[in-house]
Amino acid sequence: MHKTNWGIIGLGNIAHKFATDLLTVEGAKLYAVASRNQEKADVFASKYNATKAYDSYEALAKDPNIDAVYIATPHAIHKENTVLCLEHNIAVLCEKPFAMNSYEVSDMITKAKEKDVLLMEALWTYFLPHYQYVLKELENKTYGEVLKLEADFGFHRTFDNSSRVFNKSLGGGSLLDIGIYPIFAALSTLGIPKNIEAKATYFENGADSSCDMTFQYDNNVIAALKSTLLEDTPGEATFYCEKGIIKINGGFHAPTTIALIPNEGEEETIDFNYKTIGYNYEVIHFNELLRHQKTESDVMTFEFSKQLIKTLDEVRNIIDLSY
Ligand SMILES: NC(=O)c1ccc[n+]([C@@H]2O[C@H](COP(=O)([O-])OP(=O)(O)OC[C@H]3O[C@@H](n4cnc5c(N)ncnc54)[C@H](OP(=O)(O)O)[C@@H]3O)[C@@H](O)[C@H]2O)c1
Repeated sequence: MHKTNWGIIGLGNIAHKFATDLLTVEGAKLYAVASRNQEKADVFASKYNATKAYDSYEALAKDPNIDAVYIATPHAIHKENTVLCLEHNIAVLCEKPFAMNSYEVSDMITKAKEKDVLLMEALWTYFLPHYQYVLKELENKTYGEVLKLEADFGFHRTFDNSSRVFNKSLGGGSLLDIGIYPIFAALSTLGIPKNIEAKATYFENGADSSCDMTFQYDNNVIAALKSTLLEDTPGEATFYCEKGIIKINGGFHAPTTIALIPNEGEEETIDFNYKTIGYNYEVIHFNELLRHQKTESDVMTFEFSKQLIKTLDEVRNIIDLSY
């Protein structure tokens, strides 16, 4: 069987984690990596046994042996990097947020369709077994209808404008970086809200330091969502349902455990015995799509990515955050 030859563009923090998990996937090979710096690319390639190390993203995109590229650069250049690879007929798995706004996402999807090449947003949470389990439980209404969702993602880090997490020109701020996960939790379980309220706090450079959101749905169902770079928060997603609570424990967006708390009866914790950081699940899905010559994921669909960025745009509009 031909192994998928993967390339990675942008060799920062997440690229290391992705490469670690990529090596665990049967049928995938880390073939090439690209950095803006040759020495950095060489060190990364040697650490993860990649065949090629390029000193520019353009050089990697020109390599005819690459089947798929993982884009791990700051949000502000996702579109540019994605279009570069699609132009060279390379399938693209691009980190979240897919791009800075709906216009950019729309351009990326248009380009993928024009080239007839696979494109997917790397929203890894969707592919994690514990999250899939919760989606099934909610779909089956094991605990009845959802009455309320609470989801948060927050960590404290000292402001540093040289970090892409804070730097506004790179898309810095809590909402796009981590607020996307609680929003993802709401959209993937409750759907599109009929109304959104939001308020934010800001760093001196104008990047949002925290954002509190309330999504309103029919029948008084609400989702209370939070992102913050000012404090460590539990990082849980809790679904309060008619007959009990389904709680995705701390780090809900990443491999974790689930607590099932029925109104009557015993509480149960499910441990999914994760053995990896968790990025292998999206890679396996992507490889399967490639193997079946698909150009769009049936899980992380274009429609869902569009809705996700549209919702981020809406929140930004409410809190008056512009880039
Ligand atoms: N799925 C997840 O769990 C997860 C977790 C963290 C981050 N992310 C996403 O992944 C992306 C990268 O995050 P990260 O934490 O890995 O960031 P990072 O550590 O800052 O790395 C980003 C890399 O992008 C490249 N880059 C290109 N142009 C740049 C510029 N103008 N300034 C800074 N770096 C530039 C650099 O690689 P070279 O120097 O090698 O060119 C840099 O090392 C973000 O969009 C983020 O939202 C996802």
